[in-house]
Amino acid sequence: MITNTEIAKRGNQFPNHIVDFKHENDKIYFTTQNGVILQVTILRDSVLRFRYATEYVFEPDFSYAISEDVNLGYNELTVEDEIPEYVITTSKIKVYINKTDLKVQIVDLNGVVLMEDELGFHWDENFDYGGNVVKMSKVCHSGESYYGMGDKASHTNLKGKRVNNWVTDSYAYGKDQEPLYKSIPFYIGLKDSIAYGIFFDNSFSTYFDFAGEKRNVTSFWADGGEMNYYFFYGPQMQEVVESYTDLTGVPELPPLWALGFHQSKWSYFPEQKVRDIASNFRKLNIPCDAIYLDIDYMEGFRCFTWNNQYFPNPKKMIEELEEDGFKTITMIDPGIKVDRDYWVYQQAMDNGFFCRRADGPHFKGKVWPGECKFPDFTNPEVREWWADLYKEMIADMGVSGVWNDMNEPAIMEVPTKTANLDVRHDYDGHPCSHRKAHNIYGMQMVRATYEGVKKFMFPRRPFVLTRAAYSGTQRYCATWTGDNVATWEHLWIANVQMQRMCLSGYSFVGSDIGGFAEQPNGELFARWMQLAVFHPFCRVHSSGDHGDQEPWSFGDEITDIVREFIELRYQLLPYLYTMFYNYIKEGFPMLQSLVFYDQKDHQTHFRTDEFIFGKQMLVCPVQEPNAQGRRMYFPKGNWYNYWTDELNSGGVERWVSAEIHRVPLFVKEGAMIPKYPVQQYVGEKEIDKLLIDVYFKEGTENSEVYEDQQEGYDYKKGRYSLRRFKLTGKENELIIQQFKDGNFITPYDSFKLTFHGLPFKIEAVELDNEEVNLNEIKLNGGNTIEVPKDFTELHIFGK
Ligand code: NOJ
Repeated sequence: MITNTEIAKRGNQFPNHIVDFKHENDKIYFTTQNGVILQVTILRDSVLRFRYATEYVFEPDFSYAISEDVNLGYNELTVEDEIPEYVITTSKIKVYINKTDLKVQIVDLNGVVLMEDELGFHWDENFDYGGNVVKMSKVCHSGESYYGMGDKASHTNLKGKRVNNWVTDSYAYGKDQEPLYKSIPFYIGLKDSIAYGIFFDNSFSTYFDFAGEKRNVTSFWADGGEMNYYFFYGPQMQEVVESYTDLTGVPELPPLWALGFHQSKWSYFPEQKVRDIASNFRKLNIPCDAIYLDIDYMEGFRCFTWNNQYFPNPKKMIEELEEDGFKTITMIDPGIKVDRDYWVYQQAMDNGFFCRRADGPHFKGKVWPGECKFPDFTNPEVREWWADLYKEMIADMGVSGVWNDMNEPAIMEVPTKTANLDVRHDYDGHPCSHRKAHNIYGMQMVRATYEGVKKFMFPRRPFVLTRAAYSGTQRYCATWTGDNVATWEHLWIANVQMQRMCLSGYSFVGSDIGGFAEQPNGELFARWMQLAVFHPFCRVHSSGDHGDQEPWSFGDEITDIVREFIELRYQLLPYLYTMFYNYIKEGFPMLQSLVFYDQKDHQTHFRTDEFIFGKQMLVCPVQEPNAQGRRMYFPKGNWYNYWTDELNSGGVERWVSAEIHRVPLFVKEGAMIPKYPVQQYVGEKEIDKLLIDVYFKEGTENSEVYEDQQEGYDYKKGRYSLRRFKLTGKENELIIQQFKDGNFITPYDSFKLTFHGLPFKIEAVELDNEEVNLNEIKLNGGNTIEVPKDFTELHIFGK
């Protein structure tokens, strides 16, 4: 890795004074005397792109990360030619471009510096490969913090760390180990409690040093390609994350069952084993929606084949599992076994779909089936072919989802763990080597998978899961954090990884619950489940080498605890689905670190454990053995203890008890939390009432519930139901106003409202100005009432 100091010693090249300037619509070009061009593009008032060319030439402008649906357009743009700098002004920020050295400084409209170049853009010609190592250095101001960057197994605040993005198969990775499975070169800076973001859209190996090497410098660089980054202005972290997510895209809504509980292992086979596992869930009344088939379902690990000995009639098995409420998910890897008699191999050979080395031969590498060749998923024709390979599996056999693994690509028995760097790729018509394509290879594979699964699932929704990812992969699929370990430290890692993935635009994420490698004891498994039911993707998976890891594998006490938490997840499905809706609608992350929730509170800047689930629940997992509770920080606001209804004020750290059957879980004052009854799988029961837990607040709070058919695409045509509630609590009165949107008719007719923390006894209720007979609507000794669902205004009076 090249360091700042080394680069400086080598007498590296720097831009120079600006000799030419041009403004064309949303783009402004600055050319320096030694051939650097800086192109600044205004995407929105708060989103700018900075691109640098050397030798007066830009590379063709192409990126896999950027969404086709990105919002563009600004309200204001002026460019002034001043001394000593050019000044670009939008309705949100000002950018100063220094005429003598091309350095950039960005300030808000109050003149507060948000970001400024230290050395700024510089580069180093790459003798071995051609092109440049491109580098950018910024000033790190005192008190500045850094968040985001995808799956890093590090403290949520990255200040002082150096990270590398080079997607890598990292079996049993450790804390702070680099690099991991994903490349998400996006960070959020927080300075003077003002947030901004940087997305360095470069698919080569990239590096970020967050004031690690030098206390006052934050830099990022890449082994090749262009210096090409986007700047997002907040001032709220929420605005930064939403802008980045808008730029790189969001998925469509998953089928609701995908948010249920999933069970996996490497591997459940033969067929009888799969059936036994499934029937045990039903026998023990532990909800579950999906069961996974890892590589052993295949014939000799050949993708798109079935081992007929283990699975003599997969279609029948899948059908019967489906009747029992289980979806079947199968694994597909990128490596295609070299075998002249294997149809997938033949098709790829006949059509020239495999990647080649620089001098022409096919690239070969060992994976599970032995010697494999690898389709070039960066070629659109290959993606189309790959998508169509799923026809039999999905349309004919009835598989409901696909899991793409090893798509870094992971190669065995070589020290680099991946393809040779000279391997050639089409890169959608921009031919290049693996150095440039490596980080997006898995993304393009899973993109093709998504297209295929979507096509053959229609009119139902696809479910796809990936291990490798680059920025933007969230448009296609869910992801998990790879081969973790059954240790307490990994429980901590899973917690920070999920938070930072969510802040990095990728919310549909989960960990292998209980750990993939080694085996957890019952306590660790239960504590992990108590965390993971609050993760967007919730799946147990394990390597199977060390014993069983099903919810019932650790004795009755643990089984009961685990069941209770999976049941809680099923109750919270409408809340989770609403979280997902907000994620795809606004880019709002499904989980938020406390710093996201209240960036002005410095206490939150270095917190790792507590997080907000959705918009109104606060979770703090227990991450140590033998704990009876733990200390945790309550951010601003008042929080009801979910288990006891006790109210806690924010802004303090305090001890909360959490014996083995409890996790610290709190609900924001004023929240209305929607719940479904416990189901053994999504769709088991007709929802005949929506249960809503109403947490009293003196003052107001807004809540919402999004619902639709839980499947299909009618929601895109307006067939959804979005209910917004405004709760206003007073000393003797509680008012709930409801605002409805969408034309989906929910299957239930009434809400069952259960009140928590109500400071008065209910004496009278008015529904849309009409008094109702209390005796007819009161349930459970008075704290619950049942009311018709479509009221506009509900008044509850006390004495
Ligand atoms: C590696 C994956 O990370 C793991 O989840 C899977 O079980 C194995 N490959 C075998 O397919």
